[in-house]
Amino acid sequence: MAVREVISVPHPTLRTKAEKITTFDKELQGLIDDMVETMHEESGAGLAAPQVGVSKRVILVEFGDEEDETTPPTLYIVVNPRITKFSPETVSGAEGCLSIPGLMGEVKRPYSITIQGKNRQGDPFKMKAQGWLARIFQHEVDHLNGVLYTDRATEVWKPEETYDPV
Ligand code: NI
Repeated sequence: MAVREVISVPHPTLRTKAEKITTFDKELQGLIDDMVETMHEESGAGLAAPQVGVSKRVILVEFGDEEDETTPPTLYIVVNPRITKFSPETVSGAEGCLSIPGLMGEVKRPYSITIQGKNRQGDPFKMKAQGWLARIFQHEVDHLNGVLYTDRATEVWKPEETYDPV
């Protein structure tokens, strides 16, 4: 495994629609392992393959129970993710991104979603998510379509300290 370089705006790969994964081979496993290591190194809450310069449809999200630090966070790996359901209810929240250093923004997104795709072995993956987890999934799927949170933000600012960049 290796930590890969996280690219930042205005790198064109961040604005490119990523390609669907068709083979669940060793190369994909290596990419996923490297993405996990990179996300941990950068203390990210999520990561999309285009952020390491690979224009492929792979995302990671790591989410823990903020109230219970004794339970380790859950790592979700989704290949070819699709959000198949959005709640009509929306909620505003602050987001940051590893590829947009030094900024945060207020983004309004659906409160809950259903996400479908494949796991790293190529088996079907489907789950419902709400709140912060649903937000991170939406942020990461946006990356696969060349969309950045700043495109959706109602307000962007420079925080003194960034947190939970994704
Ligand atoms: Ni991001």
